[in-house]
Amino acid sequence: MADGFDLVIFGGTGDLSRRKLLPALFSGYVAGVVPAGSRILLTSRSGLEGEIAPWLKTVFDETAPACGMDAKALADFAQMVQVIELGLVKGGADWDALSEILNSEPERPIVHFLAIPPALFTSTCDLLGAYGLNGDRARVVLEKPLGNDLKSAQAINEDVGRTFGEDQTFRIDHYLGKEAVQNLLALRFSNILFEELWSGRTIDHIQITIAESLGVKGRGGFYEGTGALRDMVQNHLLQLLCLVAMEPPARLDGDSIREEKLKVLKSLKPLEGADIDRNVVRAQYGAGAMHGEAVGSYQEDLQLDAPSTTETFVAIKAHIENWRWAGVPFYLRTGKRLPDRFAEIVIQFKNVPHSPHPAWGSNLSPNRFIIRLQPEDHLALRMMVKNHTAKGEALREVEMNLDVVGGGDAVRIGPYLRLILDAVAGDQSLFVHRAEVEHAWRWVDRIINHWQDSGKAPLSYQAGTWGPYEAHDLMTHDRRQWFHESGGRRNGK
Ligand code: BG6
Repeated sequence: MADGFDLVIFGGTGDLSRRKLLPALFSGYVAGVVPAGSRILLTSRSGLEGEIAPWLKTVFDETAPACGMDAKALADFAQMVQVIELGLVKGGADWDALSEILNSEPERPIVHFLAIPPALFTSTCDLLGAYGLNGDRARVVLEKPLGNDLKSAQAINEDVGRTFGEDQTFRIDHYLGKEAVQNLLALRFSNILFEELWSGRTIDHIQITIAESLGVKGRGGFYEGTGALRDMVQNHLLQLLCLVAMEPPARLDGDSIREEKLKVLKSLKPLEGADIDRNVVRAQYGAGAMHGEAVGSYQEDLQLDAPSTTETFVAIKAHIENWRWAGVPFYLRTGKRLPDRFAEIVIQFKNVPHSPHPAWGSNLSPNRFIIRLQPEDHLALRMMVKNHTAKGEALREVEMNLDVVGGGDAVRIGPYLRLILDAVAGDQSLFVHRAEVEHAWRWVDRIINHWQDSGKAPLSYQAGTWGPYEAHDLMTHDRRQWFHESGGRRNGK
């Protein structure tokens, strides 16, 4: 890879490319991990008028202002970028031009990044195949959503599979590219301390939360046809659950990790009928206030005329039916327009079986291991220590913060850059296997079908609150609490 790679971004001037991919690539170029000889080809149906550099500057000013600051680096980076006007028809001069560019460097890896709606995956892959752009050095990266249900996901996988082998197909879940998620693997599998404690013998339950403060304004028809279960649970939350729950793989390579994750998905207890009503909370935000400012409801944000049943919040109590996790609930939760933006995994251990000091028992909290994925990477262990106060002995909870943010010569790279570089290197360990996608859909489809059959509308919660009361009940019913409700501090503060 010394002299670089070729990256073709289909939908190269679109939203994902502008907001995430181009800023990520630019930061990689500045950090020296994207070699200067690489070529970034942005395909677009309408092409681009004018020069690349000023266009990139405008894009960065909108999406990642820090990138636009270094004019020299930006000008150099712009040299690597080309916009190619490309339709989706065979026989056009545009595809010949693309092939010619790619074939002019016959040895280097090519990554085709499909940042386009999944409805265009088939025709794009068919054309890549027809032009011979699917050889061994080529990989295809598929951005979510990978379908809307099991059937459509299978169809996408079949269609893409006609042109690209599974070892060439890289299904992105950008949560897997987050540094703290990878640290979770490092932590679990390079420290004996955790493995010994990592099961229902010691762990009481696990909470995984992805909270967002933004609403859905500007997401148009996509969100209305999707909802939180498909948008966040089917992929990000279930992937995090897999990484927390999987057995130690023999090796940290793509096949071994993905086999173990798949076993977790296969062991997820299917939720059916009344179980779904009891264990899944589904809600949509109404009007409310965020940080003192009035904000509109979901209906208003999407300017919908008719009432919608799309959920913007889900909380689920799930179980993994295997030896390690029998009896340990996994509480998953995600929502838009919550008071804060963070993603966090909380491993809550059991209470000590007996407290040997009469004064200690009164404020004894269980140990918790907290993995914060955002807004910052952070690992913390919460433990009890003793205080001597005027009133005598007392226990106090302290947080042991593990400094995971780069030691030595660590280079910090964001999730998209990390995943693009892995795709270039052909490393699939942080990508999702076809079978994982399909199993996740199988589990989620049951819930969606039940909602549809029951004809019930989602609950409502006020924007700027932690979701409906029923989500709180899901925990208190089990004599448990969401971490933030139990006074959980974030960011060590
Ligand atoms: C995307 C979802 O996959 O993830 C969005 O489609 C969501 O709805 C986003 O906002 C969250 O990603 P992050 O990295 O900002 O937490």
